[in-house]
Amino acid sequence: MPSVPYFSPILSFVFLVWLILHPSKPDFSLKEANIYQLNISTPHNLLNSSIQLTLLSKNPNNKVGIYYDKLQVYASYKGQEITSDSSLPPFYQGHGERNMLSAELAGTGLPVGPTFGYEVGCDRTAGKMILSLHVNGSLRWKMGTWVSSRYTFHVNCVAITEFGSNTTSGSMKSKQGIRCSTSV
Ligand SMILES: *[C@@H]1O[C@H](CO)[C@@H](O)[C@H](O)[C@H]1NC(C)=O
Ligand SMILES: *[C@@H]1O[C@H](CO)[C@@H](O)[C@H](O)[C@H]1NC(C)=O
Ligand SMILES: *[C@@H]1O[C@H](CO)[C@@H](O)[C@H](O)[C@H]1NC(C)=O
Ligand SMILES: *[C@@H]1O[C@H](CO)[C@@H](O)[C@H](O)[C@H]1NC(C)=O
Repeated sequence: MPSVPYFSPILSFVFLVWLILHPSKPDFSLKEANIYQLNISTPHNLLNSSIQLTLLSKNPNNKVGIYYDKLQVYASYKGQEITSDSSLPPFYQGHGERNMLSAELAGTGLPVGPTFGYEVGCDRTAGKMILSLHVNGSLRWKMGTWVSSRYTFHVNCVAITEFGSNTTSGSMKSKQGIRCSTSV
């Protein structure tokens, strides 16, 4: 613990309460991810995409509420963003509460790398594709009547989506209940 040269009594008190309650970071898991479109145009490698996802968010704390002030969701594939950011409405999550969050992600004419089409083609042949779904946001903790300042957080879910037996329709569905990692 770094030494702090000066702490006002109020700050020390808040810090002490903080240490006692030590809020746990929120839990996110992926309920569903469906890829409806992932079409690339040549020769400029511009991608059109459409992905629908549902996340389950849970506040694991018994004494701490969470204000989610900003939630920006997007998807990536092999380190490249494959949809634009989509914002979800802010909300408050009480003690132990769970909320379902759904987002429609889309990209139109997003530039991707030259091997993108080839890699997606290989995955299509293999029958599955691994995507990352991200949430970037900011939150505030609420303890009693005290509300903390803003903290940024990042959620990363790895979705393994499988092409159905119908490979011509091109849509893919993820397995359910994948746990996501969260950093605050
Ligand atoms: C994707 O592109 C193919 C070939 O250009 C086209 O046949 C198909 O309809 C497109 N899919 C969507 C969902 O736009
Ligand atoms: C992507 O969408 C744009 C605008 O709707 C369209 O002009 C373009 O042909 C689409 N590209 C592909 C690969 O489907
Ligand atoms: C989301 O946050 C991560 C980590 O802070 C950052 O690397 C990334 O650029 C952010 N993405 C967007 C779209 O804001
Ligand atoms: C596969 O999907 C296409 C497009 O949605 C549909 O026309 C076709 O009937 C499907 N085939 C099977 C075997 O379900």
